[in-house]
Amino acid sequence: MKGIVIYDTTHGNTRKVAETIAETLRESGVNADLFYVKKVKKLSAKDYDFVVVGSPTRFGTMSFAVKGFLGKVKSKEWTNKPFAAFDTENPENIERARAENKNWSAAEKIAEKLKGRQMSQLLPVHKAVVLGWKGPLQEGEIERAKEYAAEMAAKLKK
Ligand SMILES: Cc1cc2nc3c(=O)[nH]c(=O)nc-3n(C[C@H](O)[C@H](O)[C@H](O)COP(=O)(O)O)c2cc1C
Repeated sequence: MKGIVIYDTTHGNTRKVAETIAETLRESGVNADLFYVKKVKKLSAKDYDFVVVGSPTRFGTMSFAVKGFLGKVKSKEWTNKPFAAFDTENPENIERARAENKNWSAAEKIAEKLKGRQMSQLLPVHKAVVLGWKGPLQEGEIERAKEYAAEMAAKLKK
């Protein structure tokens, strides 16, 4: 079992969450590579059993780089493979989206795209709270990311 965790970041917050997820997967006995989205040249389903994609939320959706990357996950070979999606967001965005029942988050948009490619969503999306545009992550977010990844590992090992 081997997966790939792919993230975009400008200020480093989404990277911290991605690193935590990859480390926790490994500590839980699940092999995982970690890649900055712009460093992924070619992605083959032959090399990976699952994909985790994370992005900062920008204007209610994923970054351009993540959108471009998802364009590469087209082929039928990814059908039914598990995925998980996470993002970083401001607390006001989470509150407003909840109040208005809207999917204004990168993770939700990533999940929609990958489900559209017939991939199988392992867990509900994970939203890490970032304070302001540059961060930092809200207190407790690294711990929450660890819990998310531990749950992911448990599901993958079933
Ligand atoms: C151009 C731009 C648009 C943004 N739009 C949103 C948004 O719609 N909702 C939100 O919660 N945060 C928004 N943010 C804040 C980002 O989510 C925040 O900068 C990001 O999570 C930080 O992650 P990073 O440190 O990995 O770059 C925006 C930030 C930028 C720079």
